[in-house]
Amino acid sequence: MSREILSRRETPSMETTDARNSKRNTRAQRRWRILARALTGSPEPTGSESDEEVSVRRFTSFGLLKCTLLENVPADGESSWCEYSAQLEDGQSYDVQIRRISKCFTASELIGFNNTGNVCVWPSEECLAYYLLRNRGLCRNRSVLELGGGMSCLAGVLIAKYCNPSAVTLTDGNVTSVDNVRCIVTRNDMTDLVECGVVQWARAARTLRQAAANGNRVKTWTADGDEDALLPSGLYDVILSADCLFFDDARLDLVETIYGWLADDGVALVMAPRRGTTFQIFAEASIKRGFIARQTERYDDTVWSRHLELLENSPEYCPDLHYPVLLELTKQKKTPPG
Ligand SMILES: C[S@@+](CC[C@H](N)C(=O)[O-])C[C@H]1O[C@@H](n2cnc3c(N)ncnc32)[C@H](O)[C@@H]1O
Repeated sequence: MSREILSRRETPSMETTDARNSKRNTRAQRRWRILARALTGSPEPTGSESDEEVSVRRFTSFGLLKCTLLENVPADGESSWCEYSAQLEDGQSYDVQIRRISKCFTASELIGFNNTGNVCVWPSEECLAYYLLRNRGLCRNRSVLELGGGMSCLAGVLIAKYCNPSAVTLTDGNVTSVDNVRCIVTRNDMTDLVECGVVQWARAARTLRQAAANGNRVKTWTADGDEDALLPSGLYDVILSADCLFFDDARLDLVETIYGWLADDGVALVMAPRRGTTFQIFAEASIKRGFIARQTERYDDTVWSRHLELLENSPEYCPDLHYPVLLELTKQKKTPPG
């Protein structure tokens, strides 16, 4: 889908200024065409965009989970329901029902909070969900928070159903995404275990920094009518995030949010494509903040073999944009004064 291109920032490269300017102009023109289509509700053109744009949009999935449209659920013109299911080596099928937003966004929605999470379930979310299903012990009896989960929070929803976590909190900064996730949680009958809330990293990080300045590292939120009231009174054992590292303005806030809300012995599992230098900048910022950061490319044999097949057979597959790398963040152990 095209809307991702509206809000993504380009990755710096080693081009000449002229080449960069001309590329920016054509990108800008494409963005305006996309915006015009979204506003007027015109259908997407086929085969008219440049190779680069098409290549970013065409690759949508590693095929790890099967997505089947649920035809018995009435469509409301703005969404559709699908079953996402993974077949694992134990012969069992792991499935959840996911509502996918398919409406045309209004102008105010498009210029409002980032909408990339309402476009599709991104391959990083798919890989993270699959990885967690195959490593179900990672979330067992643990409190789990997903940040930037988009309209599906697919990973968080699947672990809520299959990994026996003690509690799950699903979040995104976009209100439309979170409303959609609420519908998903209700339909999958998870309201006892799962909370949903709007969490914007800048606000969360600001609160954490203020709390730190007051000598109280984590504030306990109280119900004051604010969405942030849903935020933790305790810390999380596992924090998940998929494809959230390319927002230049929000990266440090995301690091701060993860650091502030992760238990001292917890782990953050962050998956994202490298996308130029964006992944690496995030990893370095995490280390600077006090995390131990471990990057793994080959975290799952099936995902890896799909990646190799795609490299061989799919011209539209670009690992830098599409292959999610796993970043595990843990806190440095505090050594007791000796
Ligand atoms: C590329 S989407 C990924 C969504 C989902 N994890 C997936 O992979 O399908 C990035 C998500 O980050 C969210 N996001 C971007 N900036 C944010 C911020 N400052 N605070 C909270 N969420 C943010 C967007 O709303 C969006 O849902």
